[in-house]
Amino acid sequence: AALTPPAQPLAGKTILITAGPTTTPIDAVRYITNGSTGRMGAAMAEAALARGASVRHVLGIDKGVVRPVAPRGAEIRLVIEEVRTAEDMAATALRHLPHCDGVIASAAVMDYRVESPAPGKLKRAEAAVSLAMAPSVDVLASLRQAATGQWFLGFAAETDDVEAHGRGKLARKGLDFLFANPVARLGESSATGFAVPTNGGVLLFADGRSLPLPIMDKSALAGAILDAIS
Ligand code: CTP
Ligand code: CA
Repeated sequence: AALTPPAQPLAGKTILITAGPTTTPIDAVRYITNGSTGRMGAAMAEAALARGASVRHVLGIDKGVVRPVAPRGAEIRLVIEEVRTAEDMAATALRHLPHCDGVIASAAVMDYRVESPAPGKLKRAEAAVSLAMAPSVDVLASLRQAATGQWFLGFAAETDDVEAHGRGKLARKGLDFLFANPVARLGESSATGFAVPTNGGVLLFADGRSLPLPIMDKSALAGAILDAIS
């Protein structure tokens, strides 16, 4: 049978993706992180590249974080920027925004940062310590504010009423689309959320529509999300 060329519905488009965890340093050798591995973001990047898009991938670096791999021949369409803190991520993403048609915010951004990380290594002492933390930048909100017509897809991992929390967030953040999935507590096993190869949930649209997407491989899910919003 003749090979049909893959459909390239996103040819000529450039997509900005935030992915992975952000971290916040405590001192010279310690930092706070979260359970994100960047897998959903990498899957979104690979699905976008496979559909012909160019990708600016702003990736929070931590141990074991997953990098997208471009399909053969698409390497030139993938730029990966490594960042650590939420503030780094916002600055880097803002630099790329003007070159992009849409934004996919899959990063698990720390909501707080350590206010004054110690420049050296903190020493052990037999006394309690407390860490002052301040709100960190909302990367997605900064991008939304600087936008010039780009579309926005957000992600939300929620406990309890996933769809209701998702609807509120989509409206509050002024997004076009939001994928909401249930997340387990750290240490509990689940087929959705952090550090597992599968995910499933509901894709919410700003016009009120919602599309449930059952639990599947993150790469299949990434393709289904992109096809639904295209
Ligand atoms: N996000 C971001 N920067 C932040 C927090 C969130 O860019 N500081 C983005 C995430 O990448 C995601 C969306 O916003 O696409 C929703 O993230 P979430 O953590 O669910 O939103 P919050 O407003 O932080 O709400 P919550 O209190 O539930 O954590
Ligand atoms: Ca948050």
